[in-house]
Amino acid sequence: MGIIHINKLKEGMILDEEVRDINGRLLLKKNKTIQSSHIRIFKIWGITEVNIQGSNGNKEAPTYEDDPEEIEIIRKKTVDLYRHVDLEHPAVKEIFEISVRFRSKYNLSETEKMINLSDVDTEHKTNGRDFLKKLSKENISLPEIPSIVFELNEVIANPLSSAEDIAQVVHRSPSLTALLLKIVNSPFYGFPSKIDKISLAVTLIGLREISGLALGISIISLFNNIPKEILSMHSFLRHSLACGIISRILAAHKGLPQTEQLFVSGLLHDLGRLILYIYFPNESRNILSLARSTNSLLYQQEDDHLGCNHTHVAKHLLQQWKLPMVLENNVFFHHNPSDAQQPIPATLVHIADIITNGLGIGTSGERFVPALDHAAWENLGLSPSCFDVVSKQAAHQLFALESMLDI
Ligand SMILES: [Fe+2]
Ligand SMILES: [Fe+2]
Repeated sequence: MGIIHINKLKEGMILDEEVRDINGRLLLKKNKTIQSSHIRIFKIWGITEVNIQGSNGNKEAPTYEDDPEEIEIIRKKTVDLYRHVDLEHPAVKEIFEISVRFRSKYNLSETEKMINLSDVDTEHKTNGRDFLKKLSKENISLPEIPSIVFELNEVIANPLSSAEDIAQVVHRSPSLTALLLKIVNSPFYGFPSKIDKISLAVTLIGLREISGLALGISIISLFNNIPKEILSMHSFLRHSLACGIISRILAAHKGLPQTEQLFVSGLLHDLGRLILYIYFPNESRNILSLARSTNSLLYQQEDDHLGCNHTHVAKHLLQQWKLPMVLENNVFFHHNPSDAQQPIPATLVHIADIITNGLGIGTSGERFVPALDHAAWENLGLSPSCFDVVSKQAAHQLFALESMLDI
């Protein structure tokens, strides 16, 4: 017997343990033979792995699960990453325990390898207070998002727009059409039958949601421009996707509508860092080096050296791009959500970022688990007990999304 990932599940295998959804509802009894309809149902309900008779488990995933010594080493390393948070806090404690299990199972933590640092270059020290002025006044050619996103925003703003209207805009970009259809047909959504039309996808997922996805997909191309000598683009994208996916799942747990907006907010939460790495590589290298040598949080080093941090840079851009206010709200306040006008969605991104950093899924350059906003957590009213199932669902969706996006 053994646990196998849902993607490895085949018809004819026999369940060694019953399968239940996140609400505890029985989906399939022990000793049942797996059929294709079962696999589809598991995917719809976000089941990531099941226990199968006679299986030795999923051998492809690097795992130390059965080696107590290795787990102890991982536990000690993980404690160090939590030095800026209170490990006694119930939410942090739960995330920490999941981190140890997750890190021993997936070995995704590439943070150290992915950040290439040289010595601090004192010649390129930035005059802190003037940084935002520099950003706005020196006419830096900030990356433009495709015009299709603006058109989508316009269609959505019109209350008379139909699913057909939005499909017409999306169809203008064949690559966006293809990718959107690929995503809506993936386990990320788990619809039982094939969706071959954008208008149908709009009807099923919602007008705003599709626009949010289109926006996220369009912006992903910007990630290609990160200088390799600073950070791996793959690692940054993985951190961003994971934060988006976790934000979306947490939103679903909170029963919020418009979960796609949370996906895009999570995807873009460290957008400011992306801009810093691309347009201010010398300053970025110094800030990363200093954070490393002093064991401090990256955004605090940004504040010290630029007089602002990546959230201010992102706000500047999002305003320039005239994107929905809720995006600005969630991105700008993802480190201090209790100051946000809409604290609940900002807190979901905040928690998703903490989970993503804790689990070590890619990195945006931060080495440690960022500080928890205690007041925002209290206000959120979420139970830490959901984090385990959230992390499993997120890992499943992340792998599916990554293989779809070919990254
Ligand atoms: Fe951040
Ligand atoms: Fe982040």
